[in-house]
Amino acid sequence: MSTVAINPKGARKYAEGTGPLAWNRAYLGSSVGQKILVAVTGVALVGFLVGHMIGNLKMFSGRESINAYASFLKHDLGVLIWIARAGLVVLFFTHLVYTIRLQRRAKAARPIGYQMQRAAQASAASKSMLLTGLVIGAFLAFHLAHYTFGLVHGAELSDGTVVNYMDLRDAKGHHDVYTMVIAGFTTWWISALYLVAQLLLFVHLSHGIPSSLRTLGVLGRRFEPAAQALGIAVAGAIVLGNFAIVLAVWTKVLQ
Ligand code: HEM
Repeated sequence: MSTVAINPKGARKYAEGTGPLAWNRAYLGSSVGQKILVAVTGVALVGFLVGHMIGNLKMFSGRESINAYASFLKHDLGVLIWIARAGLVVLFFTHLVYTIRLQRRAKAARPIGYQMQRAAQASAASKSMLLTGLVIGAFLAFHLAHYTFGLVHGAELSDGTVVNYMDLRDAKGHHDVYTMVIAGFTTWWISALYLVAQLLLFVHLSHGIPSSLRTLGVLGRRFEPAAQALGIAVAGAIVLGNFAIVLAVWTKVLQ
């Protein structure tokens, strides 16, 4: 027998039949299911950003420390690093695609000329989330071209020759990530780009974190101020940690 699920917030007709596949389609066809998916992937991406920022801070422990850490991640984890990378790609695109779907659905459902102040504010906030998210996505594409593929520019050695970032080696033969990051941030416009991207990341995360917690029902209405404070604290820690590296290269604390 076929079933048709009705949900006032979601698509009218989700799936025929029963079983996990039909349930899955019904779930992901509803606004609530999609919002939960955006929230869960968002929280997981924040987890990556916290870990990445803490790893980046190894720059302050010196060349050997960050190079050994990068070498461990790239070479010693074997297949795990590829699973983690594939996971990151899936998380990123799921987060993006379902955010766009939700926004399209909200737009389609909106009666012409509605004047509800709160709804309009919520819509402005989610629009800015999409915009900041897309800019951060563009920054990420640049960042991967810069530090993961070494396509943006080369590093100048003491004898004046310029080599690709990927060819830099330390005394132990590890990829010299330390020199690569310093070479990256000695160019003013690249540093400026990173600083602007971090500011947008702060705007995105300080709104996204409490919003995800709200969607997931982790914190009740009573804890709304706490959720907002947590969003600002986590977003602030990520951004300040990353900022510190760019500024330390600029001010030659790291060289
Ligand atoms: C000042 C800030 C940052 C620094 C210094 C930094 C540094 C780096 C470096 C050196 C790598 C390459 C590691 C290697 O190949 O050995 C890398 C990779 C990466 N970074 Fe960043 N990063 C920063 C901010 C960010 C931000 C804000 C994001 C996300 C929005 C991000 C996402 C990534 C991703 C996804 C990778 C690829 C990881 C992989 O290859 O498995 N990074 N970063």
